[in-house]
Amino acid sequence: MSRNLLVTGGAGFIGSCFVSRQITAGDRVLVLDNLTYAGHLVNLEQVLHSADFSFVHGDIGDAEVVARCLKEFHPDAIVNFAAESHVDRSIHSAEDFVRTNVLGTEQLLRTTKDWWQGLKPEVRKDFRFLHISTDEVYGSLDKNSAPFTENSSYAPNSPYSASKASSDFFVRSYFKTYGLPTLISNCSNNYGPRQYPEKLIPLMVLNAVSNKPLPIYGTGLNIRDWIYVEDHCAALDLILSGGRIGEAYNIGGECEKSNLEIVQSIYKILDEVKPKSDGTSYGTQIKFVADRPGHDFRYAIDSAKIKKELGWRPRHCFSDALRKTVLWYLDNSEWTRQIMDEDYRKWLHQQYQDFDSSKPLEQKD
Ligand code: NAD
Ligand code: TYD
Repeated sequence: MSRNLLVTGGAGFIGSCFVSRQITAGDRVLVLDNLTYAGHLVNLEQVLHSADFSFVHGDIGDAEVVARCLKEFHPDAIVNFAAESHVDRSIHSAEDFVRTNVLGTEQLLRTTKDWWQGLKPEVRKDFRFLHISTDEVYGSLDKNSAPFTENSSYAPNSPYSASKASSDFFVRSYFKTYGLPTLISNCSNNYGPRQYPEKLIPLMVLNAVSNKPLPIYGTGLNIRDWIYVEDHCAALDLILSGGRIGEAYNIGGECEKSNLEIVQSIYKILDEVKPKSDGTSYGTQIKFVADRPGHDFRYAIDSAKIKKELGWRPRHCFSDALRKTVLWYLDNSEWTRQIMDEDYRKWLHQQYQDFDSSKPLEQKD
């Protein structure tokens, strides 16, 4: 059955994938996005002209705009992707993270609750508020610890994960206190097309082909559990339709890799599909740089709950999906041109300016 979905943060990486998917599946979508440095309408170009798509340029913390969206669009569900999402930026300054992830989410919940309480009981019961969160709220694992389950304690270590943990607690509190039918998803590291190139995979692809260093923090042995973005979005659709209200669902790619392994996989694909004119490997551009402060060692997700309750599983094999992802960045230089603006250059300068002074470590293979 087709639904009205209010998708916040729908012009970002994961949100835009979800919006395109749901419109193809027959839903009507209103995107509310304030188009930060990470939000771009070009991410939605596949659906911009669809009759089932509409867009409001606004902030989740703006009660008036949100109330108008609710009143005019009558959503069956809100899917909240809107967030500041980059750990390194949160280390430079947590201010925007508190504003959007904590205060913005709480305001969105409050405006939604006020509107939802005025609905007819039968409509109220079927409404859903799905909050998109991260595995980073659980903190860091040792090499041999069991993966995070939904019962793992929250132990956020970065300002980003602290802000997401806080937003999760507010979502929980709105379920417990007011009965707002909420759902939370905690997903691992996503990769795929249209990810802002401040994150590991697109940064490495684009730096490699621009003949820039491939900056690996610390030893490169930190581990992440990688999931292809379409597998994440498929899980969200299932949670929205069949998840039990008040519950959280962990979503993981069952694909733990060290950062070094990721970068090696990327440069090997590039060496094959776009060999360098001087005959050397892109691997020679690897540069070990100062570690991220408070760098979580390992994330790993136990997805048993969503598999058992909702029949989900990741469908994309890492090597094929990574290859597809790398090729997408190579084939979409117009997207890259639009995304890599002055703001992006400023960020690279702020974050990586110490390339020349950083002590290169021995390259591991
Ligand atoms: P992104 O940074 O690519 O996109 C965020 C979007 O939110 C942008 O379009 C931005 O303009 C919008 N936005 C930011 N502040 C807003 C505000 N105040 N009001 C309205 N819109 C606002 O992020 P992403 O990687 O697509 O992540 C989406 C969500 O998924 C986030 O909540 C993030 O915490 C979560 N998540 C991401 C990952 C990952 O690997 N990228 C993994 C797990 C969970
Ligand atoms: P990132 O994509 O920022 O995601 P997250 O911090 O949310 O996991 O980083 C993924 C991993 O890659 C993380 O361990 C940090 C590391 N990393 C680098 O080594 N170099 C880089 O330039 C970046 C951006 C990340």
